[in-house]
Amino acid sequence: MGQLREAMKKRILFALFFLLIFVTKRCVTQPHACDASDPNAVNYAFCNTSLSYEERARDLVSRLTLEEKVQQLGDEAKGIPRLGVPFYYWWNEALHGVSNTGKGVRFNETVPGATSFPAVILSAASFNTDLWYKMGQVVSTEARAMYNVGLSGLTFWSPTINVLRDPRWGRAQETPGEDPLVVSKYAVSYVRGLQEVGNQEVNKSGPNRPLKVSSCCKHYTAYDIDNWKGITRFTFDAKVTAQDLEDTYQPPFKSCVQEGHVSSVMCSYNKVNGIPTCADPNLLKGIIRDQWGLDGYIVSDCDSISTYYKQMNYTDTAEDAVALALKAGLNLNCGTSLPDYTQKAIDLKKVEEATVDESLIYNYIVLMRLGFFDGDPKQHPFGKLGPSDVCTDDHQNLGREVARQGIVLLENDGVLPLSQNITRKLALIGPNANATTTMISIYAGIPCRYTTLLQALEQKYGESLTYEPGCSDVECRNASQIEAAAKAAASADTAVIVVGLSQSIEREGLDREDLKLPGFQEKLVMDVSEAAPGPVVLVIMAAGPVDVSFAKNNSKFGAILWAGYPGQDGGDAIAQVLYGDYNPGGRSPFTWYPQEYAEKVPMDDMHMRANACASFPGRTYRFYTDKPVYDFGHGLSYSNYSKVIIVAPGNIFIQPKTSHRPFNIRHLDLASESNQVIDVSEVNCKNLQFELIVGVKNVGKMDGSHVVLVFWKPAVAQGVTGTPNIQLVGFEKVEVKQGEAESVPVKLDVCKHLSIVDAEGKRKLVAGQHTLVIGSSSEQQLEHRFDIQLGNAGWGEGVMSF
Ligand SMILES: *[C@@H]1O[C@H](CO)[C@@H](O)[C@H](O)[C@H]1NC(C)=O
Ligand SMILES: *[C@@H]1O[C@H](CO)[C@@H](O)[C@H](O)[C@H]1NC(C)=O
Ligand SMILES: *[C@@H]1O[C@H](CO)[C@@H](O)[C@H](O)[C@H]1NC(C)=O
Ligand SMILES: *[C@@H]1O[C@H](CO)[C@@H](O)[C@H](O)[C@H]1NC(C)=O
Ligand SMILES: *[C@@H]1O[C@H](CO)[C@@H](O)[C@H](O)[C@H]1NC(C)=O
Ligand SMILES: *[C@@H]1O[C@H](CO)[C@@H](O)[C@H](O)[C@H]1NC(C)=O
Ligand SMILES: *[C@@H]1O[C@H](CO)[C@@H](O)[C@H](O)[C@H]1NC(C)=O
Ligand SMILES: *[C@@H]1O[C@H](CO)[C@@H](O)[C@H](O)[C@H]1NC(C)=O
Ligand SMILES: *[C@@H]1O[C@H](CO)[C@@H](O)[C@H](O)[C@H]1NC(C)=O
Repeated sequence: MGQLREAMKKRILFALFFLLIFVTKRCVTQPHACDASDPNAVNYAFCNTSLSYEERARDLVSRLTLEEKVQQLGDEAKGIPRLGVPFYYWWNEALHGVSNTGKGVRFNETVPGATSFPAVILSAASFNTDLWYKMGQVVSTEARAMYNVGLSGLTFWSPTINVLRDPRWGRAQETPGEDPLVVSKYAVSYVRGLQEVGNQEVNKSGPNRPLKVSSCCKHYTAYDIDNWKGITRFTFDAKVTAQDLEDTYQPPFKSCVQEGHVSSVMCSYNKVNGIPTCADPNLLKGIIRDQWGLDGYIVSDCDSISTYYKQMNYTDTAEDAVALALKAGLNLNCGTSLPDYTQKAIDLKKVEEATVDESLIYNYIVLMRLGFFDGDPKQHPFGKLGPSDVCTDDHQNLGREVARQGIVLLENDGVLPLSQNITRKLALIGPNANATTTMISIYAGIPCRYTTLLQALEQKYGESLTYEPGCSDVECRNASQIEAAAKAAASADTAVIVVGLSQSIEREGLDREDLKLPGFQEKLVMDVSEAAPGPVVLVIMAAGPVDVSFAKNNSKFGAILWAGYPGQDGGDAIAQVLYGDYNPGGRSPFTWYPQEYAEKVPMDDMHMRANACASFPGRTYRFYTDKPVYDFGHGLSYSNYSKVIIVAPGNIFIQPKTSHRPFNIRHLDLASESNQVIDVSEVNCKNLQFELIVGVKNVGKMDGSHVVLVFWKPAVAQGVTGTPNIQLVGFEKVEVKQGEAESVPVKLDVCKHLSIVDAEGKRKLVAGQHTLVIGSSSEQQLEHRFDIQLGNAGWGEGVMSF
């Protein structure tokens, strides 16, 4: 048996070897169809650029045999050599820069690296939609440049837009944080930056819109558990209420499709309420395609179909599994389930060939919009981009700018900025003080370069800087290096300690079980702070929050900074903030929970709302009932800003959609008109948008930027439970020079932003007194009260008075 196995092993290795050669060879061809050198191309309607993308896609699919069709349904689409359609790798990644995590991207001497932006969680902390858009534009430019030299595909399965409902999630770093509005706006901005071609064609709508690169919003839906105490995403059944689904889990995906016009959505591994997402006709066809109107394709995670067949035992046969997926509305499979079993599923009449055709048409329209069927890529509008357009100074500077704008100053008693006292001797301590790969997070490529914090501070301090890691890595399993670190701190005036996490603690496939700093890190911090004669600055390099209340409560710590995973030049960005070359203005995109949260809240419980009877404190600033260490939206500056409300709504009158029919008021309190609850579908939402204008004055000593956060406290609604305590409804980042003021308009839509969701997942407007709260809990807060009232039937339009 043993020998036989050895022989088999050798044979398999041999086969793998050839497979590798084969794959590598495939990889070097620059994929495109309809090449001018193909004499037949002129006869193919699918190559005729005068026709619509859909006509062309239909023509192509009509020419294929069933055998050919099924071979195109996996992420390695085999192509149709007889029609000049090459092999294509659908799987490419660009979460925060072009990444070689998928199969389509490679780096070599021609393009040795690409701009590596910070982890998304830090970019999110900038609260800057323009910046997110620009980042998408840079990434798509670099992607196009790499495609042109045969090093990348054009379809990117990014970004990740799951709401960070739990701080322990290993993929916190990939997400734009815990707030559905922030995640939605991030998704829309980044996707538009990736996809829009940036000329008059931007305004073409629908299937005629060309794409710079294709983007994909993932992982749909109610996902965010990877591996927590043995519960894995591959078998997890997320039990989600209609209310949580409608106002937490779905909004980013809806925005991504409807406002971002994304060209793909990826369904996740998990089940939602008993049904695997990739097999759910309501979630896929019903919602994404029919309700939201996706103009693109739906793809599985790798390989969700095989996962629900083999690991969840959701179907009896592989053919049933693929038939379910196709009928549910899945169009492409990361993996090989569809290519392997679809033919047999059709033979067995479990699914029709027409369903496969429909899928292929959706997939090919996207490739056509990318110009893949337009012949020589050099002739394409982006054909001139090449290696010199990757890692340009401008791109790398934007990477650093994103990091600077994201970094959050959590505490400062005046020790920062350090430039106040340059003669100080500085001790730089901690396992992340000279981090490189940790800074570029997960789903990274090869960065253009690294600038570590040690390198950046050496530039400023030279000889007066000492460095001690204190622990050999973030796991810090051993205290042997702590004494040397304390010694270094003892002979310096100021100590900067850089602690935190890395991929060894939080990553895809690995959730945290607690919120503490790992190993002996806390001891390192305390020993160093006790040895230090002067103030200590704590820098946290981590994606998800850690419980730093031990330092928050200790006056020894003059300042605390959160730097996420700040990207290739993250060290420089942190140094600029510490030193005062840059005035920080980032805001925390999540709640900083105390350790007790991890003890009280089972991660596999998907509820957002608190439940006092079950001692469940709820999740995120919208529902959490215990005291956080730091709030969502918290973030200080070296300046101070004073705010005033310049324009705000008075009473808002809402009208029924059909003027001759009064509102159907379910929870009628005869004593009063107020606090009645009206379904949004009955309201005439047209003209119910308004602009809140806030004045922001920089009254501090430095130029800076300020994020205007607009929260809403809904009126108490009759008969609806689980209304958020408070909810972000708008935000805008503004630069304000020292001593100057800016007025900041924030657009709000009554039906969209000022509606609550009931237990059945229905959106409702509440008549009664509402409050807008401008500013987070740790800054000057302005409150503005206004009424939503039922208007007189017959007015026709919504009316607002100011
Ligand atoms: C890098 O790969 C591309 C695409 O395969 C190839 O054309 C190019 O020659 C390679 N560059 C080097 C320096 O090998
Ligand atoms: C491409 O399609 C247009 C519009 O139908 C048609 O007029 C033209 O003849 C076609 N070109 C070729 C080369 O077939
Ligand atoms: C796109 O449409 C908007 C609104 O219709 C218009 O203001 C804008 O100028 C158009 N942009 C281009 C590039 O044509
Ligand atoms: C699926 O079936 C396999 C084999 O019978 C079994 O080991 C596994 O536990 C089952 N998984 C689930 C989620 O039921
Ligand atoms: C600068 O640092 C020196 C040495 O620690 C200290 O004596 C002095 O008070 C500091 N000056 C300011 C303005 O903080
Ligand atoms: C800091 O990191 C850089 C980049 O990895 C490395 O070259 C350097 O040796 C490190 N410095 C120290 C003092 O460990
Ligand atoms: C602690 O770590 C150091 C270096 O990282 C190593 O030399 C030493 O053997 C370790 N000590 C123990 C007790 O594991
Ligand atoms: C920190 O201080 C607050 C009040 O100042 C107290 O409630 C909390 O228990 C303290 N936490 C720790 C970890 O010492
Ligand atoms: C900001 O204002 C607060 C309260 O007025 C004051 O205590 C603080 O010193 C000011 N900070 C700066 C940096 O000006």
